[in-house]
Amino acid sequence: MHPPRILSGIKPTGQPHIGNYFGMMRPAIEWQERGEAFYFIADYHALTSVFDPAKLREYVRGVALDFLACGLDPAKAVLFRQSDVPQHTELAWLLSCQTPMPMLENCHAYKDHLAKEKTPSHGLFAYPVLMAADILIYDANVVPVGKDQKQHVEVTRDLAHKMNALYGPIFTVPEASILPTLATIPGLDGQKMSKSYGNTIELFPEEKTLRKKIMGIVTDSTPVEAPKDPASSSIVALYRLFAPPAEVEKMEVDFRAGGTGYGDFKKRLFGAVWDFFAPQRARRAELEADPGYVDGVLADGAQRAGAIAEKVMQRVRTAVGLRH
Ligand code: AMP
Ligand code: TRP
Repeated sequence: MHPPRILSGIKPTGQPHIGNYFGMMRPAIEWQERGEAFYFIADYHALTSVFDPAKLREYVRGVALDFLACGLDPAKAVLFRQSDVPQHTELAWLLSCQTPMPMLENCHAYKDHLAKEKTPSHGLFAYPVLMAADILIYDANVVPVGKDQKQHVEVTRDLAHKMNALYGPIFTVPEASILPTLATIPGLDGQKMSKSYGNTIELFPEEKTLRKKIMGIVTDSTPVEAPKDPASSSIVALYRLFAPPAEVEKMEVDFRAGGTGYGDFKKRLFGAVWDFFAPQRARRAELEADPGYVDGVLADGAQRAGAIAEKVMQRVRTAVGLRH
């Protein structure tokens, strides 16, 4: 059997956080061993919320560095910037001509925006269509993402079926790959970790910043001496991601026993997070010292991704009647 084609994207709307890491980056890095992997920095998508050009450039670079530092290997996976392959937006237009408005009205990113009584832009409304184009333009089979993206992959599948029914089998129908273990990583306040909630823990902050963030995790007011419930604690939920099982068990026992305050548990969590990212931090420092490296990786990625995207686009242009 042909190895699967894997595709995923991450928005450069800030520094990647541990929700991104466990939900998408680490699974993506694991997938690079198992097929042809394409990972991109979704800068067109970021334009729905980042309006500062200097910041956008900074975030794009930061995402590339973080991803490479965490183990994305350009010899195994293609890393590129979305806007280096403008065929994504071309395909998005063709797809949008077959996208029923109600399908987009039903998408949660748009609904959340409305619920906050903000006025969504057309770009935000049409975002799932661009995301469908991102996926379909590479004939992707597998899309490793966090749980919050499941609905968008469903939209992609619906659009692929619709186009195939209308024009013949032009698209591969992809599947989302979502890790069941902790599909949604909690943030400092216990809600889903998300840049828009301001509750994130980034992968490579200064030691002081990281400690401050972790010490700021929201807890209830159970006194030090009282027993505490490990199952409802985001400290334990996060610790589970970073510490070996025996340490996690010890924390759970200490929670139930009482006599240990949340501050103490947070210190343990801080230690585990800091140690966990130590090798990646060293690697990131090395990569940063060679400014041309990231540019080279992205330029090479753009070329490799662009060649495939153009081939698929030619097939689609012909199928819909834009070309012979
Ligand atoms: P974004 O920053 O929205 O571009 O997200 C990039 C990837 O990280 C997507 O696959 C998301 O599903 C995933 N992700 C973001 N936040 C979380 C979270 N709190 N838990 C799990 N996955 C997440
Ligand atoms: N919408 C995704 C997110 O917010 C990012 C993304 C854009 C993406 N295009 C994609 C993910 C294509 C997977 C495949 O996380």
